[in-house]
Amino acid sequence: MTVPYKRTHYCGELRIEHSNRTVTLAGWVHRRRDHGNLIFIDLRDRTGLVQVVFNPQVDSAAHELAQRLRTEFVIAVTGAVSARPKEAINEKLVTGEIEVFAHKLDLLSQAETPPFVLEDEVDASEDVRLKYRYLDLRRPSLQRNFVIRHKAMMAVRNYFDRLGFLEIETPFLTKSTPEGARDFLVPSRLSRGEFYALPQSPQLFKQILMVGGMDKYFQIVKCFRDEDLRADRQLEFTQIDVEMSFITREDIIAVTEGMMKEIYRAALGIEIQTPLPRLPYAEAMSRFGKDAPDLRFGIELKDVSDLAAKSEFKVFKSAVESGGCVKAISVPGIKEFTRKRQDELAEYVKVFGAKGLAWLHHTGEGLTSPIAKFFDQGTLNAIAERVGSQVGDYVMFVADKPKIVYDALGNLRVRLARELGLIPADKLAFTWVLDFPLLHYNEEEKRLESEHHPFTSPLPEDLPLLDTDPLKVRAQAYDLVLNGTEIGGGSIRIHDSQLQQKIFMLLNIGEVEAREKFGFLLDALSYGAPPHGGIAMGFDRVVMLLCGASSIREVIAFPKTQKGVCAMTGAPAPVDARQLKELGIKTDLG
Ligand code: AMO
Ligand code: AMP
Repeated sequence: MTVPYKRTHYCGELRIEHSNRTVTLAGWVHRRRDHGNLIFIDLRDRTGLVQVVFNPQVDSAAHELAQRLRTEFVIAVTGAVSARPKEAINEKLVTGEIEVFAHKLDLLSQAETPPFVLEDEVDASEDVRLKYRYLDLRRPSLQRNFVIRHKAMMAVRNYFDRLGFLEIETPFLTKSTPEGARDFLVPSRLSRGEFYALPQSPQLFKQILMVGGMDKYFQIVKCFRDEDLRADRQLEFTQIDVEMSFITREDIIAVTEGMMKEIYRAALGIEIQTPLPRLPYAEAMSRFGKDAPDLRFGIELKDVSDLAAKSEFKVFKSAVESGGCVKAISVPGIKEFTRKRQDELAEYVKVFGAKGLAWLHHTGEGLTSPIAKFFDQGTLNAIAERVGSQVGDYVMFVADKPKIVYDALGNLRVRLARELGLIPADKLAFTWVLDFPLLHYNEEEKRLESEHHPFTSPLPEDLPLLDTDPLKVRAQAYDLVLNGTEIGGGSIRIHDSQLQQKIFMLLNIGEVEAREKFGFLLDALSYGAPPHGGIAMGFDRVVMLLCGASSIREVIAFPKTQKGVCAMTGAPAPVDARQLKELGIKTDLG
C-alpha cells in the first residue's frame, strides 16, 4: 500500500542547477519507455514534465516496480537530479537538460487506460473529453487556462479592493430579472406552486445596494440564462459585476480600463495601452455591420446606394427605390473565385436574410464580372474608389433593408478575414461601443422594447426626443468589445422615478405590471437613490480571449455541452416522483 512520502519539488521546476540534489516528486506517469535495462518515465504534475530513469544498478526494487507502471498511474519518486549527456538533451522540454535517477518508487494509485491521450493535441470528441473531464483537465493546455483564470480573478479582486470596492454577494434564489433571456425556475417546497428564478444577473440587487449606501460594489458572480448555447455562451457563466454611486460614464470606463490593464498584466505580463478606442454604435454598425466589431482588420462596409441607384442592375435599383441600401466590401487575397465558392458565399449571406451576393473583380482593366454590364465606366470607377479596392480584390455587395445588409456583410467580413488569414494572431483590438439606442421596435409584438433593460438612462441631450421620436433616443449605455467579442456591457441607470414612469409608459408596461415585476426596485428608488451606474464583464469570455481559446468551454472547469448537458454528471436528469409530489409538480410531456 501507499508509503508516506514528502514531495520536495515540482517536476516542471527542476533545472540544471538542481544537479546532484536528491528530490522527491509526485505525479502521473505521462509516458513510459522500457529499454529493458533502463526504464524511462515522463513524470507529470501541474507544472510540467520531467524524465525519471530507473536503473537496476541504482535500485533493483524500484526498477522492478517500474516495469508495472502504465500511463496515468500515480507515483512518488525519490532520486538524484543528474545532467543529461549532451546528446540526450531535449530542447523542447524546459526540464530537458536533466533527468532524475530514481532510487525509490511508490505506486500511489493505478489507472485504467484513458479513453484518449492526454496531450495538447487531442483527437477525442468534445463530448468524450467532457465526460472524462478529470482526465481532460490534466492536459497541459487546460492546466494553463486555469492558472490564467485564477490569476485574472485574483487581479480583479485585488484591484477592486485597492479602489475601495466591497464584494457583496446577492441571492441566487430570487425573482425574474430583466436581462431578456429565459429564466431558470426553481420550485419552492415551502410555497407550493410558486417558483424562484435564478438571476440572469444581479442587476436589481446591485442597484438596490447603491440605494443602501454601499457606494462601490463588485462581485464575481454566477449568472443563469436559459438560452441557446454557442462558443461564447453557457447556461451558467461568470460575471465581474460592478456598480458605483455618484459617478459618470467616464468613471466607469476608467475603472473598467484599469481592471483590464491589471488582468492582462497579471495573467500574461502584457501592457494594454489606455485609453481604449471608442466608437459610437451608429458608426460601428455602418462601418462594420455589427455592434461588436472586430477591429483587427479592415474590409469596412461602404455605402454605395447612390452609385448603385445609377446602374441598370434591377436588384440594386429596386432595393434603393424601396428604401433599402446597397453596401459593399472589398476583399483582398482571394486567389480563385470559382462558381462553387460564389455559391457557397451567396448561401452564407442568405442565412442572414440576404437574397444574394453580387460581386465585381478589380482587374487591371477595372471592375469586371457578369453584372458589370449594368454599370457605366464612370460608376464602376466611382465604386472602386469608394470601396478603396486594389487590383486583385473582389468587391462584394448586398442590397436590402439596412438590418439585413449589416448582418450579411458584417458576418461575411469576419468569415472571409478568418478564411483568408487576414487576422493578425497577436493583435488585441479593444473598443468601447457607446451611445446605443435606448429602444428598438419589436415587429412581432408591435411595441417598443428596451435595448438593454428598462432602467437604462437616456443621454440627457436626447431627452426631448422621448416625446417626438423615441427610436432616435440614445442610451447612456456602453459595451466593451475585444477582437469582435462583446466582453462587457453596462449603463448609467435612471434614478428619477418620473423618468422611470415615462420609460415604462413607452414600453407599454402599465403601473400594475411595473409594480408586480419591479415594485421592490421602484420602492427603493423612492427612498433617496443616488445617481448610479455600472457594468458587467463576461469573465469567461475575457479568460477565453486571454488564453487564445476558441470557446468558453475551454476555460470553465465543468461546462455544459452545446445541448446544455453536463456530460460527466448527466445533468439534467429525471427526479423521483416523491420529490415532484412534495413540490406539487406534475410533468406533462405529451
Ligand atoms: P449583459 O447581459 O450585457 O449585461 O451581460 C454582461 C456580459 O456578460 C457576458 N455574457 C455571457 N457570457 C457567457 N454566456 C452567456 N450566456 C452570457 N450572457 C452574457 C457578456 C456580456 O457582455 N446586468 C447587465 C450589466 C449592467 O448593466 O451592469 C448585464 O448582465 O460578455
Ligand atoms: P440574379 O439577377 O438574381 O441572377 O442575380 C445576379 C447576382 O446578384 C447573383 O450573383 C446574386 O447572388 C446577386 N444578388 C441577387 N440579389 C441580391 C441582393 N439583394 N443583394 C446583392 N446581390 C444580390
